[in-house]
Amino acid sequence: MKLHIEPDIKKAYTLPSTFYRSEAVFEQVKEKIFTKSWHYIGDANLVEKAGQVHPFTLLENVMDEPLVLTKDKDGTTHCLSNICTHRGNIMVHEPGEARMLSCNYHGRCFRLDGRLRAMPGFEGVENFPAESDHLPQLPLARWGPMLFASLSNEITFEQVFSDMQKRLYWLPIDTLEYNPTGSKDYFVEANWALYCDNYLEGFHVAYVHPALNNALDMENYTYELFPYCNLQLGVASEGEPCFDIPEGAHDYGKNIYAYYWHVFPNLMFNFYPWGLSLNVIEPLNHKQTRVRFLNYKFKGVEFDQTVHNLDQTEMEDEAVVQQVQKGIQSRLYKRGRFSPSMEQGVHHFHRLISEFLT
Ligand code: FES
Ligand SMILES: [Fe+2]
Repeated sequence: MKLHIEPDIKKAYTLPSTFYRSEAVFEQVKEKIFTKSWHYIGDANLVEKAGQVHPFTLLENVMDEPLVLTKDKDGTTHCLSNICTHRGNIMVHEPGEARMLSCNYHGRCFRLDGRLRAMPGFEGVENFPAESDHLPQLPLARWGPMLFASLSNEITFEQVFSDMQKRLYWLPIDTLEYNPTGSKDYFVEANWALYCDNYLEGFHVAYVHPALNNALDMENYTYELFPYCNLQLGVASEGEPCFDIPEGAHDYGKNIYAYYWHVFPNLMFNFYPWGLSLNVIEPLNHKQTRVRFLNYKFKGVEFDQTVHNLDQTEMEDEAVVQQVQKGIQSRLYKRGRFSPSMEQGVHHFHRLISEFLT
């Protein structure tokens, strides 16, 4: 399968349809992309107080990695492997409070920072405890109330997130509050990357989203690329709500309706004047995807659901993406080309996928 993507968008072809269809390629996506990328793992208040533990599975059905968030006695949050280093038992099953993590198989205990504390029956074992007897700890980062972790040290949080953080330094990120009633999961019968491809261009807005098309000034819609993320700047039409951007900030003077950031490979940060709609694109397998819409509101700002009908836009996107999922099964479609003015984001995404996989 030819996964190379030409750097010059005018010469480039898209990823082949076999990329989206193949189960074997999806296995590689897991091992070569998702094991190296930064994942949203939840809200910081999952472990608010010292002594709290919160077990979870990273990307259920796909990565299936059992992890546990802990807050140690010094108030430091850790993201640890939830697998006992003795013979591999899963340790914590329920969120709650604990003085330590203890394994119910043969009694091995760990401190909440992951260090081995005690192990019965191991008298006389040489070189024990070794480094590998402690629980593996994942790099963990916090932005506002959101926690992120990676299974690898290869790419730092800064490399991935700093462009977005610098651009939005003036937003009160620390006041964001998770709003469960505004949050929702969608199930899409399509490959996860098709869903991302669709998100990465505003080209389809005029055809697929009539209401959004009225709210945005599509003539001034722009695309910006960064190493591991990209930005679509949605400028507001006359009379639509927009950010109040302070003097000196990069976008001062523009009427921004929304910042649409895609963070490689599967996170979408949609900032609106009322807060953030964070979309986590979780593959369930190579042809089904769960899209989690997590709603975060800025403290004290009114949330106007009528202005941003996110649900309607999502339905319109889902319908077209599911249609494409059927379309790419065709024997007569192999791969496409890119619009140089409107599909830079899709091209960038395909380039990153091809780089990670080859
Ligand atoms: S597997 Fe945990 S103590 Fe044996
Ligand atoms: Fe869309």
